[in-house]
Amino acid sequence: MTARIIDGKEVASKVHEEVAAGVAEYKSKYAKVPGLTVVLVGDDPASHSYVKGKERACEKVGIATETIRRDASTTQEELLEIVEGLNNDPAVSGILVQLPLPKHLDEDAVIHAIDPMKDVDGLHPENAGLLMLGQPRFAPATPLGVQRMLVEQNVDMNGAQVVIVGRSKLVGMPLTALLLQKGVGANSTVTVCHTGTKDMAAETRRADVLIAAAGFPGAVTPDMVKPGAVVIDVGVSRVEDSTRKRGYRLTGDVEFEGAKEVASAITPVPGGVGPMTISMLLVNVLQAANLAASN
Ligand SMILES: NC(=O)c1ccc[n+]([C@@H]2O[C@H](COP(=O)([O-])OP(=O)(O)OC[C@H]3O[C@@H](n4cnc5c(N)ncnc54)[C@H](OP(=O)(O)O)[C@@H]3O)[C@@H](O)[C@H]2O)c1
Repeated sequence: MTARIIDGKEVASKVHEEVAAGVAEYKSKYAKVPGLTVVLVGDDPASHSYVKGKERACEKVGIATETIRRDASTTQEELLEIVEGLNNDPAVSGILVQLPLPKHLDEDAVIHAIDPMKDVDGLHPENAGLLMLGQPRFAPATPLGVQRMLVEQNVDMNGAQVVIVGRSKLVGMPLTALLLQKGVGANSTVTVCHTGTKDMAAETRRADVLIAAAGFPGAVTPDMVKPGAVVIDVGVSRVEDSTRKRGYRLTGDVEFEGAKEVASAITPVPGGVGPMTISMLLVNVLQAANLAASN
């Protein structure tokens, strides 16, 4: 069997169109546009490239976007002051502090300082708690993107055996909460693997839907995939590649070439989950703007 390749860009562009229509409606109703402000501290090249992608996507759908760039020596107090200013700025619908922050900064304290109604990354404890309770307000964009992708591919998630590799607060945990809920694109039986899992391959081989978010190439090998499974690869790693101009290429967690001969559908890296993450961020920004306007 050779798997169908799930085109994340195609699904993402459908979401972009929906958001653009939502932004136009918001604009005609309130005579202003939703706004996203990104706070970018330090010089991590991957973060800079992600932020550029977010800026471009906002511009495409009509969301106003601003990036506050600060160097790596920024203090905790300075960063908290920036967040406070954005919390109080009515032109800002959504705030995103690009992670990871430089080591000397307290990431949790910064996230906790964001107004939960503007927390479009869905990482504030209030939003994480609401998601766990099955009353999501803002869920993190990557898990939302994975779920939307599965829905768009008509994958029957109701009662499906889902195995997620990774339990991070950004991906594995919120994705577990989303897929466990009752409702469309959910109601699944979810198993979560992590470094304490005793026999990961035994778990993954039971998966109708296998989602890899461990963060290293080769985390999922073809023998770990059940024949006919849907495989979603969240992982993104840079591996050296002297044939590329920039000296590296991006790769996922899954051994793609082998796994696509076993799976029924699979996402590539790049071009799979990545574009979905950006588009679901736009959904969250529009939602934040609408929530603020209706209050
Ligand atoms: N495409 C996108 O838009 C997007 C967005 C976000 C993240 N990502 C990518 O997704 C990957 C995961 O990101 P993250 O933020 O969730 O990473 P993370 O915080 O490092 O979490 C990795 C998770 O994988 C688990 N893990 C690591 N090695 C393992 C192993 N050998 N066996 C079983 N479990 C293992 C860890 O277990 P423990 O908890 O036990 O340590 C942890 O729960 C990264 O490659 C990241 O770049 C992509």
